[in-house]
Amino acid sequence: MSIAARKISAVSQTSLPPMVAIDNVTMAFGSFVAVENVNLKVGNGEFLSIVGPTGCGKSTILNAIAGLLKPAKGAVSIDGATVGGVQNTIGYLFQQDALLPWKTAYQNVELGLMFRGVAAEERRAKVMAWLEKVGLKGFESRFPHQLSGGQRKRVQMAQALITEPKVILMDEPFSALDIHTRHLMQNELLRLWQEDRRAVVMITHDLEEAIALGDRVAVLAAGPRSRVIESFPVDLERPRNVSEIKLDPKFMTLYRDIWASLRGEVEKSYASR
Ligand SMILES: Nc1ncnc2c1ncn2[C@@H]1O[C@H](COP(=O)(O)OP(=O)(O)O)[C@@H](O)[C@H]1O
Ligand SMILES: [Mg+2]
Repeated sequence: MSIAARKISAVSQTSLPPMVAIDNVTMAFGSFVAVENVNLKVGNGEFLSIVGPTGCGKSTILNAIAGLLKPAKGAVSIDGATVGGVQNTIGYLFQQDALLPWKTAYQNVELGLMFRGVAAEERRAKVMAWLEKVGLKGFESRFPHQLSGGQRKRVQMAQALITEPKVILMDEPFSALDIHTRHLMQNELLRLWQEDRRAVVMITHDLEEAIALGDRVAVLAAGPRSRVIESFPVDLERPRNVSEIKLDPKFMTLYRDIWASLRGEVEKSYASR
């Protein structure tokens, strides 16, 4: 398939009912316009990857969805409701260890349920079930410093998913891990997501990761005034194994096509540094 046939348009659309709608959003810091007129929709159960050069505004867009930053123009809605402040319908997976170092794995996973006032007995059952799901049975009472990087990532995944969020936001979630652990954790994430598909918005500067995990890859322009330049559906079968899928000829074709779009933006962002 040619690039022209595969790409949809700058205004990214999905056939699923939208869970997240970013409508004509402009984000500014004072007079600095980071992103301008961004339109993106994410279907319920859809995994959207957003790629773009460093500093183009990826985290800014994610923070707008989370309600941490307010758009200068336009609006974000989740499940039909306009985002007007911090949301409790989302789960967040960060690059950094966001675990509380003085709390055990168990207590870290329990936090979201405590904030929501879930009763102790129900909390206990859910936390134990989630720790088992992410392969941490027997590690309940370990503190973060007693866990490996991969195990800490597992705790984070349980922490993000246990509240059954409508939307999962991920900001470069695996980039601090070594390559083998990264592949392992990407596969773990896909396995968990596949069991109970929710809307995901993952931002990354890693194009391989964006394709291997996503149903769709949106490419952002170099900033300032970044925007969505193209959106590519990823027609690779699921379930996927991220280490093997990269050898699939369809993966390579997609990589080449998307890189053709992303490359110029990465070069522009280097040139302006
Ligand atoms: N709080 C802030 N104040 C001023 N400028 C900011 C702030 N946060 C981000 N920026 C700027 O906005 C642009 C986009 O940042 P960011 O969304 O973090 O990029 P990315 O996540 O794509 O690397 C960058 O030029 C950055 O310097
Ligand atoms: Mg960022």
